[in-house]
Amino acid sequence: MTDHDLIDAARAAAGHSYSPYSGFAVGAALRFADGSVVTGTNIENASYGLALCAETVAVSKAMSDGVRSGLVAVAVTGPGADPITPCGRCRQVLNELAQLGGTDPEILCVGPDEVTRILLSQLLPHAFGPASLA
Ligand code: THU
Repeated sequence: MTDHDLIDAARAAAGHSYSPYSGFAVGAALRFADGSVVTGTNIENASYGLALCAETVAVSKAMSDGVRSGLVAVAVTGPGADPITPCGRCRQVLNELAQLGGTDPEILCVGPDEVTRILLSQLLPHAFGPASLA
């Protein structure tokens, strides 16, 4: 699974986006150390504030299948003109799974013409996570 494949997986997930209110289809693909990939897309609601972001859906899918470690990379795709970066809540959700497994995943923020690569620790410095409760 190359980075290109991971981005393709995120784009494919965005094809299942349920975003009738924003019209903004987002895809996320998580890559784990064992090579497995878990995808997610945004799921909106007639009660607008209840929208679930693609990254949060992907983390929820993985964790509900028992995954607790090994998150090494995340690709996020959106329809905008610029690379899409995870929202604040998604950064925190990603951080939970990353810290549990002691990894600092590279986030591939994908735009139409470019990919911005940034570590989760740079997107969410001084993060509050599971270790903070010890
Ligand atoms: N969205 C995501 O799925 N991930 C993000 O990181 C930012 C925003 C979704 C939420 C909503 O369905 C749509 O994009 C517009 O905000």
